[in-house]
Amino acid sequence: MTGQPAKENFTNGLFADELIFHPSSEFKDNANIQDSRIYLDAEENWLEYWNSQASKLSWFKKWDFTLQWEQCFAKWFVGGSLNVSYNCIDRHLNEGRKNKAAIIFEGEPGDSRVLTYQDLYREVTKFANVLKDMGVKKGDRVSLYMPMIPELPIAMLACARIGAVHSIVFGGFAVESLRDRINDAGSKVVVTTDGGYRRGKGLPIKKNVDKALEGNTSVEKVVVVNRTGAEIEMQEGRDLWYHQLMKDAPIGCPAEPMSAEDMLFILYTSGTTGKPKGVVHSSGGYLVGTSSTFNMVFDIKEDDIYWCTADIGWITGHSYVVYGPLANGATTVVFEGAPNYPEKDRFWEVIEKYAVTIMYTAPTAIRAFMKWGDQWPAGRDLSSLRLLGSVGEPINPEAWLWYHKNIGKERCPIVDTWWQTETGQIMVSSLPGINATKPGSASMPLPGLEIDVVDPAGNPVPAGNSGLLVIKRPWPGMLSTVYKDPERYLEQYWSRFENMYFTGDKAVKDKDGYFWMLGRVDDVINVSGHRMSTMEVESALVDHPAVAEAAVIGKSHEIKGQAISAFVTLRDTHTFGDELVKELKAHVATKIGALARPDDIFHTAELPKTRSGKIMRRLLRDIADGKALGDTSTLANPETISGLKENYTE
Ligand code: WT7
Repeated sequence: MTGQPAKENFTNGLFADELIFHPSSEFKDNANIQDSRIYLDAEENWLEYWNSQASKLSWFKKWDFTLQWEQCFAKWFVGGSLNVSYNCIDRHLNEGRKNKAAIIFEGEPGDSRVLTYQDLYREVTKFANVLKDMGVKKGDRVSLYMPMIPELPIAMLACARIGAVHSIVFGGFAVESLRDRINDAGSKVVVTTDGGYRRGKGLPIKKNVDKALEGNTSVEKVVVVNRTGAEIEMQEGRDLWYHQLMKDAPIGCPAEPMSAEDMLFILYTSGTTGKPKGVVHSSGGYLVGTSSTFNMVFDIKEDDIYWCTADIGWITGHSYVVYGPLANGATTVVFEGAPNYPEKDRFWEVIEKYAVTIMYTAPTAIRAFMKWGDQWPAGRDLSSLRLLGSVGEPINPEAWLWYHKNIGKERCPIVDTWWQTETGQIMVSSLPGINATKPGSASMPLPGLEIDVVDPAGNPVPAGNSGLLVIKRPWPGMLSTVYKDPERYLEQYWSRFENMYFTGDKAVKDKDGYFWMLGRVDDVINVSGHRMSTMEVESALVDHPAVAEAAVIGKSHEIKGQAISAFVTLRDTHTFGDELVKELKAHVATKIGALARPDDIFHTAELPKTRSGKIMRRLLRDIADGKALGDTSTLANPETISGLKENYTE
């Protein structure tokens, strides 16, 4: 890659057009996709394009129709039948990969395990038999609440094998978030661990499950993987040890033929209300979307060692730690630990140890690495790397350039991939063997997709102007619906514009067709790439006896991208002070999880509201960011602003 000298001020130079990086001719000549005609061909007949991608999978029965579109509900590959676990395991056994590493596991304490495709077959079919034995049937839901250990993908694939629907809850979520998600899914079985590691300390995983299941009526069995040896209680008749069940389980379990439209999983994500929504992904469309994009965006080759650092509990982990890589017969690294434990070079140590060739991580991590200093990556051998990826939030050009220089050694292309839990698959990204990249831009929509930037009336805005990011035609990885709530699906994604999917993001398309993502326009906040709704945090705050009213906003943060700031009014019974602030922060962490802990909590006599009673978040955001106050003419109680501002700048 060649680059030109950095512009002095990137933040003002959003269109850092002079800053363009081209893939080396070596990379280009070896890339999976070398011919830019793929864009034109896909455009000419996009359904045919998806047909050809779908043909790369193994189908029990070929589909009759590529797409059936009915009032914003899409059905992909109608009439087709396949099994996702078969596609991720069995077919590789006959294609010369049975002795190839499917999963390389690196535990936080430094323990390591390698599972070949044959090993994965054995473990998955055994666990599928365990689930069957417990009475889990096609369509039943199974909640998975566990750290990043091989038993998590094993459990996912075992569910997929028998047609059960998994619902993974990120291990960082606390009891109440876990409870809501288990209850909403109506799960029959929970798979979990005794404990987990977090920078050398223990996580009370099983204890959280016990509390979350108080009052639950759907869960019949809890399977517990022995990970840390933590002391836990096993409830007689309900709780069973994974290793004991696996001991006698037979190897081999038929892969249930699933219709392409059958649910593969539910993944809860935050919306604009207090209640998380269960995003539903199908079997056929989702696998076509994730496997094809994985192949072209990450340019995967037979001997690559690919590492996506995301937790499997988020969509990035579902699609690009597990399903995309395994459907391609790739080797995927599963890492349990944190980037700074035991030292700040743990990521680089993992790359050196396994000779990782492709790394996919988040801007928030890159910014933390920048802060920790160049000496950490410099002390490790990173010469195996050939391609880098970024996901989760806009990457600022400074972080992009640091990543390019210190990790990619100015040799590796960077793919900045824009997508969402709902899109299932990467939507906007460069194809590394074709496109030049501009630091800070996610580049352009992948072949077969139609994505645009429009004004509030739905008309495309001229190049260089900001607007709302919309998707103008269906794509295979798209969510099928919101679990048990099709109205919310329609309302959330399809009501803002006619026949266009509204992403909730703001963006600019430049004159070269490059997209520059500018963050959310709704009440969704993005803290270290973790998605949260302001309402969820507000509900957790008002749940505390001291709080009368709360407003939560995302405040710009150097490392996390956004941090949570909360403004509260108190009941007469309580007074504000350091003690209460501590208590409120802890309260939110206990209710939702540590990821939702506010950075700041400010006290105000009243919250600034419009005449119709809506909290003026924009004003609070501006105050929190220390920006100008903007237009306050619609404020009914303007006297509150000065009070707020004083409190804030103190
Ligand atoms: C939101 C989706 C699936 C990715 C993990 C997060 C933001 C994601 C980028 C990017 C700018 C990005 C958007 C999007 N986002 N990737 N490359 N550049 N913004 O998934 O939790 O569903 O959040 O993350 O705002 O709407 P998610």
